[in-house]
Amino acid sequence: MVKDLSVTLSGVRLDNPVIPASGTFGFGQEFTPYYDINILGSLSFKGTTREARFGNPTPRIAECPAGMLNSVGLQNPGVEHVLQDELPRLRSIFHKPIIANISGFSVEDYVYAVERLTEAEQVAILEINISCPNVHGGGMAFGTSCEAAAAITAAVKKVATKPVYIKLSPNVTDIVSIARACEDAGADGLSLINTLLGMRIDLQRRRPVLANVMGGYSGPGVFPVAVRMVYQVTGAVKIPVIGMGGVTTARDVIEMMMAGARAVQVGAANLVNPTACRDIIEALPGEMEKLHIDRLSDIQRI
Ligand code: FUM
Repeated sequence: MVKDLSVTLSGVRLDNPVIPASGTFGFGQEFTPYYDINILGSLSFKGTTREARFGNPTPRIAECPAGMLNSVGLQNPGVEHVLQDELPRLRSIFHKPIIANISGFSVEDYVYAVERLTEAEQVAILEINISCPNVHGGGMAFGTSCEAAAAITAAVKKVATKPVYIKLSPNVTDIVSIARACEDAGADGLSLINTLLGMRIDLQRRRPVLANVMGGYSGPGVFPVAVRMVYQVTGAVKIPVIGMGGVTTARDVIEMMMAGARAVQVGAANLVNPTACRDIIEALPGEMEKLHIDRLSDIQRI
């Protein structure tokens, strides 16, 4: 029997649940030499801010067992450039709904970027990143308190014309309370988890490996943490959740969905294997067959 991989997020139908995670896929261009990216369910583009950002000093990447640290610092060309250059170029190579990942340093920043991106035709979902661990005075600062998370959610909901998904940080004591605060403030969905705050030390230099000292840990090592948090959050909210964090295989996608995720983002795996998302999508029917699953959307939270 032909397997049905489709899923629906807030009325947006995706051919399959596999979405490259923001910051690991740029605006899609770098992956087109490797495969036709139209196989993807959607893609979440690089976190975009009101103004262009150069990002953090280098080194920004540190390899780790079972993953990597990054401290990119939200490098991006700014919302106007994204609208004028990146999105038209993306539209010429990718013909499906996209997710706009948006970050900021104040409520006004988020509202401005949402106002600009919500009308972009191809943008189907606004993913509000309140969980970047690599910038000061923004990003994760909004995702570690219920009040701040709710304030951003309510403010962007007032101007958004597309579903609003809030991207949550794992660097909190109680992710469920943050998730509930976002739901109560009107979020249409949630994305989780962003990276875990980490650090490496160069033994010869006796200095941190990263110029910014700390960075976000991602990769297969965080997968069990992500599954646990997705399971906890989906047990506490009614809105859909996009699960992510160390997803590397088709079986990981199914595991995330059994934890309650409606769709799944793939992040660090794209940096190890540029065809990771395609490989996962192509492997899904075979894994579904082994598990007697005909439709991915039939998967129930365990
Ligand atoms: O540093 C970065 O650009 C990472 C962003 C994020 O993790 O949200």
